[in-house]
Amino acid sequence: MSATGASVEGVLRQAASLLAAGGIEQPRHEARILLGHVMGLSRERLLVAHRNPVDAPLVDQLMGLARRRAAHEPIAYLTGEREFWGLSFEVTRDTLIPRPDSETLIEAVLEAANRERRENARIVDFGVGGGCLLVSLLKELPGVEGFGVDRSVGALKVARRNARRHGVSSRAHFLAGSWGRSLAPAFDLIIANPPYVAAADGTSLMPEVAEYEPAGALFAGARGDEAYRALAPDFARLLAPGGRVFVELGAGMGDRVAAILGGSGLAESGRRKDLAGIERCAIFDLSGA
Ligand SMILES: C[S@@+](CC[C@H](N)C(=O)[O-])C[C@H]1O[C@@H](n2cnc3c(N)ncnc32)[C@H](O)[C@@H]1O
Repeated sequence: MSATGASVEGVLRQAASLLAAGGIEQPRHEARILLGHVMGLSRERLLVAHRNPVDAPLVDQLMGLARRRAAHEPIAYLTGEREFWGLSFEVTRDTLIPRPDSETLIEAVLEAANRERRENARIVDFGVGGGCLLVSLLKELPGVEGFGVDRSVGALKVARRNARRHGVSSRAHFLAGSWGRSLAPAFDLIIANPPYVAAADGTSLMPEVAEYEPAGALFAGARGDEAYRALAPDFARLLAPGGRVFVELGAGMGDRVAAILGGSGLAESGRRKDLAGIERCAIFDLSGA
């Protein structure tokens, strides 16, 4: 059914009521994001245009997206983008949606890179996904060369597009594979936001996450620490003397991760909390380095 002649205000109301019926918490706000997306208009332009007519095909497109959102598909997958570190990143069903918590890792790397004058460092991002971490860092550190590894070929395609979108593709190299198996030393900075949800916790995830985000980006075995265990020997083998490893932590996993990496000869040198006060990033170097 199309609503020829409907105004911006009218279709917003229609979409918002569909979203409210689906239990979406901010229906009006999200309806505006979806309408802005289908009309190619910023939020400010939409506000000014609230009496303007909306073409029937666009109304149909909006209502299709609103129905998917009402079924709890994440809005980032509907609009195809999410902001991270002040940059707009393409996201698809192959990629995890970037989380603001992960900006903690960016802050930690930038602080160390600036303090330690690592202008020409080589950096590798294990589990690069859609590239939000690596691309943000390459943008901030113009002399740095970056490598991104992921076993998801679909995610790597998105990462390459994001590197192009932000003008860093000449310094960004993407490789398909499992963690560091195919890499040779040495890297000055190693970063990883690995999967860290325990299999048993899957049932407590929000439907937006559990039903739509890639399971391979979320789950890491019975206790949620399998990826850290698999990565630890690669970190130790690939890290340059004097280099640093930055890993994102699942909530409450800091001590366990420190023990796992410690078993491969890495010593923890600090932790950082996210905005909610949760320890979110741990920093390691080679013991005795
Ligand atoms: C939590 S997501 C992180 C994505 C992105 N770096 C971010 O911070 O938003 C974890 C990523 O690790 C990748 N991954 C899982 N197991 C892997 C493996 N054995 N080797 C390489 N990448 C893997 C997943 O495909 C996923 O893209």
